[in-house]
Amino acid sequence: MSEQKIVTVPEIATIEEIKDEIVDVKTFYLRFDNKEIDGNFTFKSGQFIMCTVFGAGEFAVSLPPSPENDRFHITVRRIGKVTNALHDLQVGDKVGIRGPFGNGFPFEEIKGKNVIYVAGGIGLIPLRSSIVHVLQHRNDFGRILLLYGSRSPQDLMYQYMLEQWQKIEGFETFITVDNGTPEWKGNVGIITTLFDKVEIPVENTVAFVCGPPVMFNAVIKELMQRGIKDDMIISTLERHMKCGVGKCQHCAIGRTLVCTDGPVYTYRQIKTLGEQI
Ligand SMILES: Cc1cc2nc3c(=O)[nH]c(=O)nc-3n(C[C@H](O)[C@H](O)[C@H](O)COP(=O)(O)OP(=O)(O)OC[C@H]3O[C@@H](n4cnc5c(N)ncnc54)[C@H](O)[C@@H]3O)c2cc1C
Ligand code: FES
Repeated sequence: MSEQKIVTVPEIATIEEIKDEIVDVKTFYLRFDNKEIDGNFTFKSGQFIMCTVFGAGEFAVSLPPSPENDRFHITVRRIGKVTNALHDLQVGDKVGIRGPFGNGFPFEEIKGKNVIYVAGGIGLIPLRSSIVHVLQHRNDFGRILLLYGSRSPQDLMYQYMLEQWQKIEGFETFITVDNGTPEWKGNVGIITTLFDKVEIPVENTVAFVCGPPVMFNAVIKELMQRGIKDDMIISTLERHMKCGVGKCQHCAIGRTLVCTDGPVYTYRQIKTLGEQI
């Protein structure tokens, strides 16, 4: 059977499981009802889908590392009309899915390099799939580092996964929270405080950065001051999307369409878009 790309009419998927992550963030495990698509829905790390919540609307959401047991999942923060409606759904309810869309992460181009991930808060959601890919292809890369920060220990995403990652030999993980608790034994301070505590590789290094604008701009400054070039810094952009396939111009920033040219860009490209992140 051929690989499936759903472009116009959403395919129905059933919510098989819902996992609470942190406050207002849940992971939804989905399976297509159509057996022709179930099991043939393949995608690249860094791509996204459009998810329809019937009666509410459609929104863009990142895809996970790869399908597991023919089902896939999305991690969604409750923020507006459609994501609120999704959060109110239960196991057994239906959603619509179109995709996969977008370019994905450039793994071939970064083979052989050291890889640094810098994530803030729910910025770990889109980066997680890249981290999982790089760990699965460990021998293709040099040092692998994760610098991850959140407001408090309760706001750390994918805590079960962070615990596993901290045990992986050769995966250098550094976690910090802005505000500690009596139980928190780790680093306290904003994410840039980690830069003075970690020996950051510069030569032959690529950095993936994702997080809120204040954090993004501070991290870019730190990386560039250390000598990491703007074309070696990668991020994913979020813009309101409608069609997902380059037709409606809803996601345009200058001459780029985030749905087809992105959502993954280098910082060198982002700088030329002339719009604040
Ligand atoms: C490629 C791509 C991948 C994405 N991946 C993910 C993902 O994996 N997980 C995820 O959760 N989201 C993801 N998003 C973001 C998601 O698509 C948007 O947040 C989407 O607009 C949500 O739709 P909505 O109708 O719920 O919210 P909307 O009504 O569209 O509101 C979203 C935006 O409006 C503002 N806003 C609305 N309500 C509030 C509020 N109560 N408080 C503060 N601001 C508010 C904010 O600016 C917010 O970003 C992704 C977006 C893109 C483009
Ligand atoms: S969402 Fe329509 S052009 Fe990008």
